[in-house]
Amino acid sequence: MFQAATISASDKPGFYRELMQQLEGLLHGERDAIANAANLSALLYDAMPRLNWAGFYLMRDGELVLGPFQGKPACVRIPVGRGVCGTAVAKRESVLVEDVHAFPGHIACDAASRSELVVPLIRDGEVIGVIDLDSPDPGRFDTDDQAGIEAIASLYLEASDRF
Ligand code: SME
Repeated sequence: MFQAATISASDKPGFYRELMQQLEGLLHGERDAIANAANLSALLYDAMPRLNWAGFYLMRDGELVLGPFQGKPACVRIPVGRGVCGTAVAKRESVLVEDVHAFPGHIACDAASRSELVVPLIRDGEVIGVIDLDSPDPGRFDTDDQAGIEAIASLYLEASDRF
């Protein structure tokens, strides 16, 4: 049985190194993409301070559809190019938003959200979904968080079969 340990690192790169180790343990021996996405959402929500939402949107017939997550119920469908999530898909790159109120087209699923980080999941050159993190604090995410979650996304893709 996997047991999450409290992360002790005081700097963000160290935090993400420990989080990667925990994720390797959590995904070991299991390749189901939805089960692994559900457990990764729970790990992120539990381990990362100052989050109000952590989860997945999955590409289904050309639009993003809500996947496994932790937090308040969220909007189910997001067209490509809309909101922070749809922008990450259209640009095929991570989008870091320090103040969601200043992001044109931000989709407010939880009014408490003030900053957001969205990392696309790219398999064989195709965007198959995103990991979305929301915080109630403006400026919660920086480039260390972006690099850390991009590494987490790669590990998730390597460790999981297709949806
Ligand atoms: N804020 C996102 C929508 C998803 S929720 O944050 C869970 C966006 O603008 O794409």
